[in-house]
Amino acid sequence: MINRYTVIGQPIAHSLSPVVHQLFGELTQRRILYTRTEASPENFAQTVLDWQQSGARGCNVTAPFKELAVDVCERLSANAQRAGSVNTIHMHRDGKRVGHNTDGLGLVADIVANQRRPLESKRILLLGAGGAARGVMAPLLAKKPALLHVANRTASKAEHLASLFDDLGPVSGGGFEQLEGEAVFDVIINATTVSMNGGMPPLPDSIASHQSLAYDMTYGRQDTPFMSWSKSCGATACNGLGMLVEQAAESFLIWEGVRPKTRMAFPRLRELLS
Ligand code: ATR
Repeated sequence: MINRYTVIGQPIAHSLSPVVHQLFGELTQRRILYTRTEASPENFAQTVLDWQQSGARGCNVTAPFKELAVDVCERLSANAQRAGSVNTIHMHRDGKRVGHNTDGLGLVADIVANQRRPLESKRILLLGAGGAARGVMAPLLAKKPALLHVANRTASKAEHLASLFDDLGPVSGGGFEQLEGEAVFDVIINATTVSMNGGMPPLPDSIASHQSLAYDMTYGRQDTPFMSWSKSCGATACNGLGMLVEQAAESFLIWEGVRPKTRMAFPRLRELLS
């Protein structure tokens, strides 16, 4: 029997998830079929129900439906609850739709295991206070950093986001202008959507140095302006390809009960992207 999965989003044509999951199927010798499904805000919930009705095991949910997906699920994991968004739905044997969020786990796995940057006692700066930022807060704080500071164009949103998670560790929030005069951060994560428009947040050079990892959650063939800026400050820069792969591995684990060896997937994916 083939276990079927899909990724639901709008637009969806460029999603790499099918490639990643088919590769995982090969690596773990599981027979899976992973497709793309386009939906609209109006028919998203019905699309998930139809997918479940067809006998499929699960689906991923991507922009702009991650928040909507919370209401489609009958149970939520702790991460999904905290994140207020779902990127993985598991059609459980008991017939219930269980929502998970593997984005934060994927980001942390990429930073710690692939980029070899431990987060414990480190100063982390998270840029942005939208859904993407919220989704990674709890897994970052679970690594016990010295500080997780959220900076956002709209300062009040960063302050609010920080307050939602202040029971989990040392977290603060503010505007970009407050970063002026701040000491170097060990890890700077760009969770704004500004890279997609070819821009970058206004950041002072003082916050990045050779000891910093600058992580852009978007991915593409070329460095984003944020990555180029961080390199000019001496930092190491990477894009979100590793996060994509690691969050997919966490989803695969939920559905198939085995976590693929992601390291073996990277060479093929880089080849496909180039
Ligand atoms: P996502 O779900 O991908 O996080 P979102 O919830 O729309 O998308 O959040 C977008 C984030 O990118 C926000 O933090 C937004 O800042 P505001 O809260 O001030 O809107 C940020 N963002 C978008 N365009 C930006 C720009 N040109 N400069 C700086 N930040 C920007």
